[in-house]
Amino acid sequence: MKRVGFVGWRGMVGSVLMQRMRDENDFQDIEPVFFTTSQAGQPGPDVGKDVPALKDARDIGELQAMDVIVTCQGGDYTEAVYQDLRKAGWDGYWIDAASTLRMADDSIIVLDPVNADVIRQGLGNGVKTFVGGNCTVSLMLMGIGGLLREGLVEWISPMTYQAASGAGAQNMRELVAQMGYIHKSASDQLADPSSAILELDRAVSDAITGDGYPREHFGYPLAGSLLPWIDKKLDSGQSKEEWKAEVETNKILGRSDNPVPIDGICVRIGAMRSHAQALTIKLSKDAPIDEISSIIAESNPWASVVPNDKEESLRDLTPAAVTGTLNVPVGRLRKLSMGNDYLGAFTVGDQLLWGAAEPLRRMLRILNE
Ligand code: HSE
Repeated sequence: MKRVGFVGWRGMVGSVLMQRMRDENDFQDIEPVFFTTSQAGQPGPDVGKDVPALKDARDIGELQAMDVIVTCQGGDYTEAVYQDLRKAGWDGYWIDAASTLRMADDSIIVLDPVNADVIRQGLGNGVKTFVGGNCTVSLMLMGIGGLLREGLVEWISPMTYQAASGAGAQNMRELVAQMGYIHKSASDQLADPSSAILELDRAVSDAITGDGYPREHFGYPLAGSLLPWIDKKLDSGQSKEEWKAEVETNKILGRSDNPVPIDGICVRIGAMRSHAQALTIKLSKDAPIDEISSIIAESNPWASVVPNDKEESLRDLTPAAVTGTLNVPVGRLRKLSMGNDYLGAFTVGDQLLWGAAEPLRRMLRILNE
C-alpha cells in the first residue's frame, strides 16, 4: 500500500478533496499520513481508519518517507518545499493543486477523462510531478474537449463568468456579506411595494459605492456588479487567468508544439462556486450540430448536452443547477451568424470539483492501479 502524505487538507480545496475521497472509499487503498504547517503532534482526521498524529509539513525528512504527496496547501508551500525535497533525493509522486509547477517541463497537468493517454505516457517515461489545471481550463475541456480531440477546432474565444470561490474562501464570505449589505441598505424601499423603483435603485447604488460596503478581499464591489479582471497583468495585456487558457489547454492535450489558439476575457461574477463560460469556437469544418452534440455527450460520463431551448437552458445550464455536482453541461450550441464554421456554446461546472479536487483524487487512483 502506498504511503500518501496530505498537505493543506483543511483548506477549501483540501476539504472538498477529503470529502470526495471519503465518498469514493479512496482511503481504503492507501496508507494516509496527514501533515500540518501549525499543529504537528495533534490527532489526524477521521477517514475511517487509523492515521498517525499530524506531522510537520516543512520537515523534509518526514516528507521523504512518503511514496506520494498530495498538496492543496497553495503555491507558497510548493515553492518553499518542492525543490528542497527533490534535491534531498526524494523520488516520489507529487500531486499538486497549485499552479506553481504546472508549466514546468517535467510536470503533467492532470485531467484524466481528457488526457489519460498523456498521463499514462508520462508515467511510462518516469514523470513524477502531476498538477491540477486551472479551473476554467479544466471545466472547458470537460465540456468540449471531445471537439478538440476530433480535430474540429481551429481556435476558441472563451468569455468567462467565474465564481467567488476561485478567489478563495474569504472571498466567498465577502460576496455573501456584500449581498446582505445591499439588502439591509435597501430594505425599507423593498418592503414598500409602492416605493419608486429609482429610490430602491439609489439605495442599492449608494450601498455598493459607499464606504461601508465590505470589500476587504475583492477590493471592489462584486455583488450588484462584476469584476472584469482576474489575477495579475502580463506584458501581452492579458490577465494571467486569460493567458492560462491557451498554454494549459495545449499542455493538457499534449500539443504544446502545435497549439490551438485560445484567448478571451475572464470576468468574476457573483456566483458562489461554479464557473461558467461562453465560447466562440471557430470550427475547422462545417460540422453539423447533431454531430457536435454527439461528440460532446459521448466524450466523458460527466459532460452532457442541454438542448438550445429557453426553459432547459435556464433550468440546467446555470451555476445554481450544477453546484456541488460533477456535471458539466454544455448548451446554447448553435451556428453563429458569422458563418457555418462558427459555433456558439455555453458551459458551466463546479470549480471546486472538476476545477480543483477531482482530478487530484483520480490521479492518486491511477497511481494505485
Ligand atoms: N484562478 C481561478 C479563479 C481559480 O480565480 O477563478 C483557480 O483555478
